[in-house]
Amino acid sequence: MKRFLVPLTVIFCVCNTACSVPQHRIYPEHTHIKNTNLSVTDILHNDFDIVKRMLYLLGKATYCLENGKPVSKGNFQDLIKIISEFSDKHHQEKEDKVLFPALKVKNDGEKKDFLGRLLMEHVSARDAIRNLTSALVNFDQGKKARRKIAKIAHSYIKQMEKHIEMEEKILFPWINKVLTADEQAMFIKKFEDMEKEDIANGVHEKYSAMIEMLEKQLEISMGNVQTL
Ligand SMILES: [Fe+2]
Ligand SMILES: [Fe+2]
Repeated sequence: MKRFLVPLTVIFCVCNTACSVPQHRIYPEHTHIKNTNLSVTDILHNDFDIVKRMLYLLGKATYCLENGKPVSKGNFQDLIKIISEFSDKHHQEKEDKVLFPALKVKNDGEKKDFLGRLLMEHVSARDAIRNLTSALVNFDQGKKARRKIAKIAHSYIKQMEKHIEMEEKILFPWINKVLTADEQAMFIKKFEDMEKEDIANGVHEKYSAMIEMLEKQLEISMGNVQTL
């Protein structure tokens, strides 16, 4: 009996963790394409749910790296792939290509400098991800190489958290105040057009599945689930 008890306990723990309600919204619930009542900032907030989820995962992977817990080069590569091809990409493209160029001239350029600063932060974030990619080449080259990876990851997380806070506290309330209903509708339509192809090609499902897989793996690595 005891022989079966341990594996059964582990299976229960893994399923229990995998089936528990996620802390952040999952991407299939990002329904702005169908919901016409959402505002521009609702959509940007929805994007941030995924971005924050990825920052949390990168933090977990980095913790594992620094504390000798199981985490692979492939885990980091997957995280980078999701960040640069999905989570950050979608959000920043909406701002870089559609929203900010129009907002720069709004109210006689009232927020021009601030928007310029946010755009520069997008560039810095992409640079950090590129540096992380380069540092990962030496993943198996010992403690020094791992410390470098962890340092870049921590710095990226910190700069993104600050960026998100600035947008949520300053940018989004201002957008809600200055955009007319027609402008809201126009931007939402443009956002929809930008993601239409990815949605049709199942890109959202693909990356959502990758995120869920990483969440399960890193949960186990952190030691919240007992392994054999
Ligand atoms: Fe941004
Ligand atoms: Fe943003």
